[in-house]
Amino acid sequence: MKIIESPQEMQRQVEAWRLDGKTIGFVPTMGALHQGHLELVRRTRKENSIVVTSIFVNPTQFRPGEDYEKYPRVFERDCALLQSNNCDVAFAPTKDAMYPAGATTFVEVGVLGETLEGEIRPGHFRGVATIVAKLFNLVRAHRAYFGEKDFQQLKVIEAMTRDLNFEIEIVPCPTIRESDGLALSSRNAYLSSQEREAAPAIFRALSAAQKLATRGESNVEILRDAMHEILANEPRLQPEYSVVVNAQTLEPIEKLTHKKPARALIAARAGSTRLIDNAALELTSF
Ligand code: PAJ
Repeated sequence: MKIIESPQEMQRQVEAWRLDGKTIGFVPTMGALHQGHLELVRRTRKENSIVVTSIFVNPTQFRPGEDYEKYPRVFERDCALLQSNNCDVAFAPTKDAMYPAGATTFVEVGVLGETLEGEIRPGHFRGVATIVAKLFNLVRAHRAYFGEKDFQQLKVIEAMTRDLNFEIEIVPCPTIRESDGLALSSRNAYLSSQEREAAPAIFRALSAAQKLATRGESNVEILRDAMHEILANEPRLQPEYSVVVNAQTLEPIEKLTHKKPARALIAARAGSTRLIDNAALELTSF
């Protein structure tokens, strides 16, 4: 596996592959890789002739006081994991190479980026969209792979790709979980053993909503109450939101229908760690 630090070298390398007729698959990450990330890499490996994974802890998507400084950085370990999953290139630019002094242009996301995570972390998706747009221009892949774990991020990136005419296919990938349902996340490393014990209540709440929907319950208030009750029974979690929304627009809905896909999303704090998760809701009628 090759490690590329220079954005210019990344662009030159991709240009050569493209001239050679190769199909390039891209997995953007912030490192501290776990099986969730690696599943994206394995899928990319299966579907493309070249696999590029970026590792860059993007400062513009963190707000002052968030965990940018303490975000886990384990570059050598990440490279070993990527190598053993047959990744071709780890693209790891420096902060100064991505944001040279004087860089002032950002991607403005609009309403999709203002609700839910965007409301609690204003500016977060502006930072995400900006770095992903920059990475798309440097890696120029045919396909990019994103986890459903960060569902709102996936929707923001799909919208940006469409709105700014990026010539790239966005491939959504299912959330990888621990055996007790906790979604894998680099931030799980922050959890104390008490907090780790409490965390799967988020998945249990999402599963309860899913189960009601598959049993034919279309009233969203009942689904929301079921989620709230499970979260309220876990005092070690402080819920920030638990909602049911239209899966495309992320707008709140009151009724599940067969026509419009719906999604349940939860954010909660365990101590000082923020956890997010979500699930598709499929209404079954009898
Ligand atoms: P990061 O949190 O490192 O995640 C990188 C990719 O891995 C994202 O697409 C995320 O949704 C996916 N992922 C994380 N946990 C997952 C899990 N348990 N199952 C499946 N996929 C999972 O998301 C970011 O980085 C950044 O915002 C980034 C897009 C790289 C821009 O800086």
